[in-house]
Amino acid sequence: MLTWIRPTPEERAYIRAMGDRLIEAVERTGVAKAMMVGSVARDTFVRGDRDLDIFMLFDPSLSQEELQEKGLSLARRIAEEFGAAWREKYAQHPYINATINSLDIDLVPCYAVTSATRIKSAVDRTPFHTRYIKAHINGYVDDILLLKQFAKAGGVYGSDHMTEGFSGYLCELLIIHYGGLHQLFEAAACWEPGITIDIEEHGTKQFSEPLVVIDPVDPERNVAAALSLSRMFEFVELVRGYLEAPSEAFFCRPTTPPLTREAFIRLLGARGTHLFSVTFATPDYTPDTVVPQLRKSAESMRVLLDRNGFPANRIDVSMQKDRCMLLFELMVDEVPTICRHIGPPVWSPENARKFFAKYIHGEVFAGPYIEDGRYVVELPRPFTRAVDLLRSGTLLDIALGRHVRRSMEGGWTVDVGAGCWDEEFAGFISQFLERSSPLVRIRRAMRE
Ligand code: UTP
Ligand code: MN
Repeated sequence: MLTWIRPTPEERAYIRAMGDRLIEAVERTGVAKAMMVGSVARDTFVRGDRDLDIFMLFDPSLSQEELQEKGLSLARRIAEEFGAAWREKYAQHPYINATINSLDIDLVPCYAVTSATRIKSAVDRTPFHTRYIKAHINGYVDDILLLKQFAKAGGVYGSDHMTEGFSGYLCELLIIHYGGLHQLFEAAACWEPGITIDIEEHGTKQFSEPLVVIDPVDPERNVAAALSLSRMFEFVELVRGYLEAPSEAFFCRPTTPPLTREAFIRLLGARGTHLFSVTFATPDYTPDTVVPQLRKSAESMRVLLDRNGFPANRIDVSMQKDRCMLLFELMVDEVPTICRHIGPPVWSPENARKFFAKYIHGEVFAGPYIEDGRYVVELPRPFTRAVDLLRSGTLLDIALGRHVRRSMEGGWTVDVGAGCWDEEFAGFISQFLERSSPLVRIRRAMRE
């Protein structure tokens, strides 16, 4: 057993005492009840984690606006009473994130509903999760800690939009359902997309996600909704690798340092591809709002590049505190001026007539001519260099995320090749070039 994953008794006592003090402070105001939730309440936090979740439960008859106003003002008051640095954050609704003695504390207002099926907001389920896990956790704490550490080390832990991986609650339910870590691993080695786990046999609603774990406290909810197909099968790959050759390496975060600028330039040259970065100011919203918008925007740019003759090998996005970066690795960076545009078959009279009329007086290099019975025309391209396209205003005409568009209206930077190197994004750029699955990383680290 890897005892270093268990929190020390001092650590546990310290975090819990802080939680109790906060609960007492909330309840002393008489405005709301309070409850410790999340992994601290369930004793399923990994040693060294500094994350405490306190929920403040308000009367369900309050309106959303009243809850927001009363909830935030109470949370601010508590944070200030403890002399904490705090900031407002938004999940599905706003809450306060405070730092006290290096503890990362979320003070979350929610409704004190009587059943998880009566929830008015997604966070209202959380207190029910805590009660459910506490009632079913008997004897599984170590297995849960091992699974969480295994998922963290493999880079698949976290239900945030950047990771799209396994949440803490999902890890807990998987262990409870399969009856231990080894049992989970044996089963997961054979998972296929679409597998459904329904612990409380609610069995009504159909879900479309690759892994479905029906929330024991709410039949309408898939606990694994945030898990992407890729993260799910990275986990499966890790599990198979572990069962083949168990090793502590599966529980240690690999510490591969980022590339140096020189190594990056060498690698890029060897690939012979064309790297482009688009950078702009980070919108003033949480990662869970911004990251999906970055992905959508980068995908729209990929389609635009492709339509203009610049197919991409890979794209990826990164959000840092001040700036966001979109990376595009293109197979070509320059194309000839002409492009072939294939028209309708001549035996389709109406379409053929329209095509003919459109191009007869247009600016063309050749055509329209007939090839195998269809019209073809050779036109000049609006952009022959990918960099010109990325720097043009065309970028604002495509489907960008709302806040990304707002930020890009204030300007963006396009860098090319070696010029894409940026110390702030060194980790991201390195991982982009050296991309490989978690098992590949672990096996390589074991060989060294
Ligand atoms: P946390 O993200 O803090 O998870 O959310 P956790 O279980 O405490 O795990 P770690 O150890 O901090 O990583 C707190 C609670 O919010 C609910 C769960 O009940 C969770 O325990 N939650 C959070 C969800 O239901 N789904 C999510 O995607 C995230
Ligand atoms: Mn937590």
